[in-house]
Amino acid sequence: MKRLEGKTALITGAARGIGLEIAAVFAAEGALVAIADLSAGEAAAAANDIAARTGARTLGLGLDVSKEADCERAVQETAAAFGKVDILVNNAGITKDNLVLRMKEADFDSVMDVNLKGSFLMAKAAAKLMLKARAGRIINISSVVGQSGQAGQANYAASKAGLIGLTKSLAREFAPRQVLVNAVAPGFIRTRMTEGLKDEARAKISELIPLGRMGEPGEVAKAALFLAGDDSAYVTGQVLAVNGGLYM
Ligand SMILES: NC(=O)c1ccc[n+]([C@@H]2O[C@H](COP(=O)([O-])OP(=O)(O)OC[C@H]3O[C@@H](n4cnc5c(N)ncnc54)[C@H](O)[C@@H]3O)[C@@H](O)[C@H]2O)c1
Repeated sequence: MKRLEGKTALITGAARGIGLEIAAVFAAEGALVAIADLSAGEAAAAANDIAARTGARTLGLGLDVSKEADCERAVQETAAAFGKVDILVNNAGITKDNLVLRMKEADFDSVMDVNLKGSFLMAKAAAKLMLKARAGRIINISSVVGQSGQAGQANYAASKAGLIGLTKSLAREFAPRQVLVNAVAPGFIRTRMTEGLKDEARAKISELIPLGRMGEPGEVAKAALFLAGDDSAYVTGQVLAVNGGLYM
């Protein structure tokens, strides 16, 4: 029996990287998957690719998670296509790194808008259906730097730490209706977000990681799968670190 048979999932920022891998793993486990991303064309291409690889029903949606109307529309379109929304993964995220004294106010605001406010807006839109259904899972993709802090990433780390507070608050608020809310906090994972790192920085990071290497998107997707499926029925308000031991 596949682990997400009959479930429907909406995943933001899923046209590439960690989100794409989560979508592929969920589809392979039997879920109907809606892939939402900034570019409707790229989301549709990713959805077609996953459908071809897994045979699952998929849907591609264009949205900007920092816009409330887009979030509501994405939830409605997913429910219209699949009949319900069982699982929401708030994965869309951006970085605009700089040292604080050089960080522009606009760069602080845009990172907060996408990473933190976007997750709140998506959770709010999806919760309307989940609370009524008295079932649901919300998984927020935070980051190790939200737990440890990081020089040069004050905006990003604050948004990812904020996501942990959001996760715990939503978990408490929605628990009476059996809607479970958890976070995954990845460490350094090999995607486009980290490909800009210089070889020297990459080697230095790997030295700090007890497991001695960066992680793969599929390793984060497996943690999201656990939090989306029946195996985590008694888990809510938690932060699951997938970081090779970088932060304990
Ligand atoms: N790669 C890492 O090392 C790492 C570590 C910890 C956490 N994360 C988090 O994992 C998530 C995925 O990261 P990734 O490494 O796959 O990055 P990525 O840049 O490869 O993918 C991010 C996706 O989000 C989409 N996106 C950006 N802004 C959006 C918006 N406003 N609305 C909708 N979609 C939007 C992008 O188009 C892209 O497809 C992010 O939240 C990131 O912060 C990544």
